[in-house]
Amino acid sequence: MRLSVAIDGPAGAGKSTIAKIVAKKYNLMYINTGAMYRAVTYKALEKDISPDNIEALCDLIKDMEMHFENDELYLNGVNINDQLTLPNISKNVSAYASIKEVRVRLVALQRDMSKKYDVIMDGRDIGTVVLKDASFKFFLTASPEERATRRYEELIAKGLEVQYDSILKEIIQRDYLDSNREIDPLTKAEDALEVDTTGINIEQVVEKICEYINKEFEFSTR
Ligand code: C5P
Repeated sequence: MRLSVAIDGPAGAGKSTIAKIVAKKYNLMYINTGAMYRAVTYKALEKDISPDNIEALCDLIKDMEMHFENDELYLNGVNINDQLTLPNISKNVSAYASIKEVRVRLVALQRDMSKKYDVIMDGRDIGTVVLKDASFKFFLTASPEERATRRYEELIAKGLEVQYDSILKEIIQRDYLDSNREIDPLTKAEDALEVDTTGINIEQVVEKICEYINKEFEFSTR
């Protein structure tokens, strides 16, 4: 059986930073499922397809081939990573991610990837839906203020002009939409280990996660 690690949690909880480090330690393929929902949003906005135009969206997603190389998403062979974190995508992504047809297609792609590779996958529904039988499940949280500060610093470092207040507002709104949507809302899987990352640094979070994985490994091979 393939090894799989699920990391869920709200926006800006540090999932992708942590997942990339843990991926290197255990030689796993990192699958950023948020990037896949962002890619759909990016293409839909480019083609002016609104979230309620289900037919056009279905046409769009059926021709979208996605894969990851060096932690980055390639859409139909093109690396589009830089476009995916732009504020306009963040603002609109939850609306596209709440559509059943979009989720069905992306969940199928994600499961295919987990069959081909040992993976660490981060998102909102990995432990509860995509990889219900994941070898290890984690749920990362942090206060909205801390998450907004992290996103703000990340975007400023990329040279973007952004306001802390509008990032905080967007994060709170996205959490609300992701947690309250009808299909596969953001929730902690019952068997996930919750890690509150408020006030602790990346190394400390990685340590907690690796400690847990190593302990379980030891236990299962005893
Ligand atoms: O992880 P990230 O913040 O990049 O995710 C962007 C958005 O994609 C989320 O706010 C959510 O609406 C959607 N998403 C999802 N299910 C996932 C991953 C992301 O609905 N597994």
